[in-house]
Amino acid sequence: MIRTVYWENEAVVLLDQRKLPVAIGGSLPLLVCRNYHQVIQAIKTLAVRGAPAIGVAAALGIALGMRKVTRDRVALHQRFAKIATEFSHSRPTAVNLFWAIKQMKSAFLQATAADFSSARISQRLLEVALELVDNDIKTNIALGEHGQALIDDGDAILTHCNAGALACAGYGTALGVLRSARQKGKNFSLFIDETRPVLQGARLTAWEMQYEKIPATLICDSMAGSLMASGRVNKIITGADRIAANGDVANKIGTYSLAVLAKAHKIPFYVAAPLATFDLSIDNGCDIPIEERAPEEVTHIGVKRIAPKGISVFNPAFDVTPARLITAIITERGIIKRPGKKSIRALLVRDEGKR
Ligand code: MRU
Repeated sequence: MIRTVYWENEAVVLLDQRKLPVAIGGSLPLLVCRNYHQVIQAIKTLAVRGAPAIGVAAALGIALGMRKVTRDRVALHQRFAKIATEFSHSRPTAVNLFWAIKQMKSAFLQATAADFSSARISQRLLEVALELVDNDIKTNIALGEHGQALIDDGDAILTHCNAGALACAGYGTALGVLRSARQKGKNFSLFIDETRPVLQGARLTAWEMQYEKIPATLICDSMAGSLMASGRVNKIITGADRIAANGDVANKIGTYSLAVLAKAHKIPFYVAAPLATFDLSIDNGCDIPIEERAPEEVTHIGVKRIAPKGISVFNPAFDVTPARLITAIITERGIIKRPGKKSIRALLVRDEGKR
């Protein structure tokens, strides 16, 4: 199994996704973070990326930052607040980051209220972060089990970006659904959008599928519409970075175009995401903060410049797909068909106490 984020020898170890793809069977590029600043830098520079992976990396990063123990209670609270704030500024769109910070904060407050020693608080934070890593994988397996019911033998599926093991602690959301379907013996073909500008499809999903020996075909983003028109694709599945209360979904830039195309071609459009990706504090997609990234991601491919110097660039990393274009959202708790305020609340309400 691909391990994206883990804890080893008092360090947060990340599979460095900036260096993928590498030869299958070759050694994996690892980034060993020995202080929390390195974890924040890894999130900002996409060494670790994908909503759930960012969340668990932040949880482990906070635990790492709190390994330095101090008996001074005020200093301890100040240190926690400083680290949590720094993580919250690392990337704005994936709500899983803020969800994970919240989990760590409540663990910290519980431990301090119980008057644990600072060494015990530090240990407790690490335990909670490790639970979040484990739970992410369990969640994805449950999500995959629900979602595989939507996949049929002979399907031709298109995915965008990377919503696989690389985007999570392991297993994946959208790709987790496909893994589960394969385990059930279903045969389908998979098309992968390259996903400009950062090429998460070409560099990461294509690599992950080869690594797992799941056959797949890579296409350029601009080819998706033509494949739908010619009947080569009959289902689309993506992940999500934040889902508003009304079911609008923020995901990698280009997702919205696919959803519009899917509607035009009467193709089901599925989103796979854990409950941690829902943000009920946000009424609709207009209020989801959309990250804008450096112009170099557009003017360059890798180190090669492909656009003239001085050209103006707009580089939003995510877009919002309105709920009306989404056939269903697949979660670990079940499938929300025709997502909207009511259907989302109905599914999430059982989990309310934990949010
Ligand atoms: O910029 P990235 O690579 O972090 O964006 C990732 C995506 O948009 C994924 O589709 C999303 O996080 C879902 S991951 C299970």
